[in-house]
Amino acid sequence: MTSEREPTEEESPVDQQASDGRGWRGEAFDSREDPALRTDGGAAGADDVTLDPWGSSTVADYRKLFEDFGIEEFDEVLGEIPDPHYLMRRGVIFGHRDYRRIAEAMRDGEEFAALSGFMPTGDPHIGHKLVFDELIWHQKQGGDTYGLIADLEAHSARGMTWEEIDQHARDYVLSLLALGFDPDDGELYRQSDNRVLQDLAFELGIEANFSELQAIYGFDGETDVSHMQSVVTQMADILYPQLDEPKPTVIPVGPDQDPHVRLARDLAARMRYFGVTEAYASFEATPEERDLIGFAYDQLREETDGDVRCEDAAEWLRDHRPTPVEARQSAVEKLEAAGKEPLRPRVRLLDQRADEDAFEALIEAVGGEKRVYDAHVDAFEMDRTEAEELAREVELDHGGYGFQMPSSIYHRFMTGLTGGKMSSSIPASHISLLDDPEEGYDKVKAATTGGRETAEKQRELGGKADECPVYELYAYLLAGDDDEFAREVYDECVGGERLCGGCKEQAAELMREFLEEHQEKREAVEEKLDELDISFDAAER
Ligand code: TRP
Ligand code: SF4
Repeated sequence: MTSEREPTEEESPVDQQASDGRGWRGEAFDSREDPALRTDGGAAGADDVTLDPWGSSTVADYRKLFEDFGIEEFDEVLGEIPDPHYLMRRGVIFGHRDYRRIAEAMRDGEEFAALSGFMPTGDPHIGHKLVFDELIWHQKQGGDTYGLIADLEAHSARGMTWEEIDQHARDYVLSLLALGFDPDDGELYRQSDNRVLQDLAFELGIEANFSELQAIYGFDGETDVSHMQSVVTQMADILYPQLDEPKPTVIPVGPDQDPHVRLARDLAARMRYFGVTEAYASFEATPEERDLIGFAYDQLREETDGDVRCEDAAEWLRDHRPTPVEARQSAVEKLEAAGKEPLRPRVRLLDQRADEDAFEALIEAVGGEKRVYDAHVDAFEMDRTEAEELAREVELDHGGYGFQMPSSIYHRFMTGLTGGKMSSSIPASHISLLDDPEEGYDKVKAATTGGRETAEKQRELGGKADECPVYELYAYLLAGDDDEFAREVYDECVGGERLCGGCKEQAAELMREFLEEHQEKREAVEEKLDELDISFDAAER
């Protein structure tokens, strides 16, 4: 039943387009016109894309994520963000779901939240730094910001011991603070000691069932229950910022987490007491049928002074044969069954999950002409936005959550320094934020490049910055906010003025500096750890 639910207005892609702030454009540097700042890091060329939160995710072709999974291109919202982060400007953040409402909230000075989580399975590395930076940036833009340690998940899905988890949790938090997260303004927590979170997970678990987890994650009879529990816990994480009150919330993650985001969006909608949709008559219609009926209604209204009956619309559809055929046929059947009932546009508020009191209160609250049915009420003098607001108000008054659908943004995975995938299990492929600065220097010096076989050829043909892990380091991290610098490296590389030896030396030195500075800051914030509301002694519990 729930899967047939109509998207509410704020969820409907059509409606979002209507409110996408057309005409507004930030002054921001737009990377679309400057492919120089784009990089594929050499990941192009492999085949199928699967998104597995616990598998080894490489994405060969980011475009497939738009087509196959319905992730939207980040470029399309970039212009609506007041002062976009460099990871956004450079296309490192390449995709999103529903980020428009976050951009809107930022522009209008309205409340919004950002949350992400980290599985403490190893040292934090420069890939995690992307997410740390994204959280910190949203915090600086005024968002309520949450960072969580997914220790239940690490324990159940990755078999980490509590000792290991404690150590890594501490390291993640230190780096997050060192990079600028403000713990007084935001919240840090561990899944395992957040009781409110666990209660929410339990509630959400009532709406999720095994077949669904099976379909989404490939779980089967062998999957342990705690692993499943870690999924509902993550659902609770994602909705946690809305416990005080519903608000737009962005989840910055890698695209491997998209299955979680989709489930969380679905659950957020299914937890709602009421659904809001539009209708023309007392019977239920699918969205396609409704479009066709609306079309017929609009045509006939002109001719008949507004007095259109269901049977007239049936006849019109039979005569004019608009597509899709199946929807037309079923619409005609429904319209014929309704016979002389007049067609009238209305907003329909459906009881999805409300108790009797709440549904009664909703009926009461609907103003103007209305018609009450078993599990819905039709309002004739209300527009959809008003109905949405009313439905949420009544839900909140009656103990519901009133969740908004969470939004997400997706960043590209970094390419490993040795080519291929950046992996925590291959030390030379990544740089840990805890690596000795000299070691960081050495790893960059030893990295593969997009350079040509000889200096001569490089001067002649230019380097392949787009396929170069070293260029990626500049774009993702070393150039920081300095677009000029990133562009200079790129132009010089592809123009043949830059040779890999010198380029790597410069990158290696910058990396050493970054690590030195970061580790100093980690030490400096260490004393703050005790003041935090987060503990690092789960092993002793
Ligand atoms: N599953 C995430 C990972 O593997 C960690 C995580 C837990 C998370 N809860 C979250 C991420 C909520 C984003 C939002 O890294
Ligand atoms: Fe990569 Fe620099 Fe060589 Fe260009 S010059 S291919 S960016 S290492």
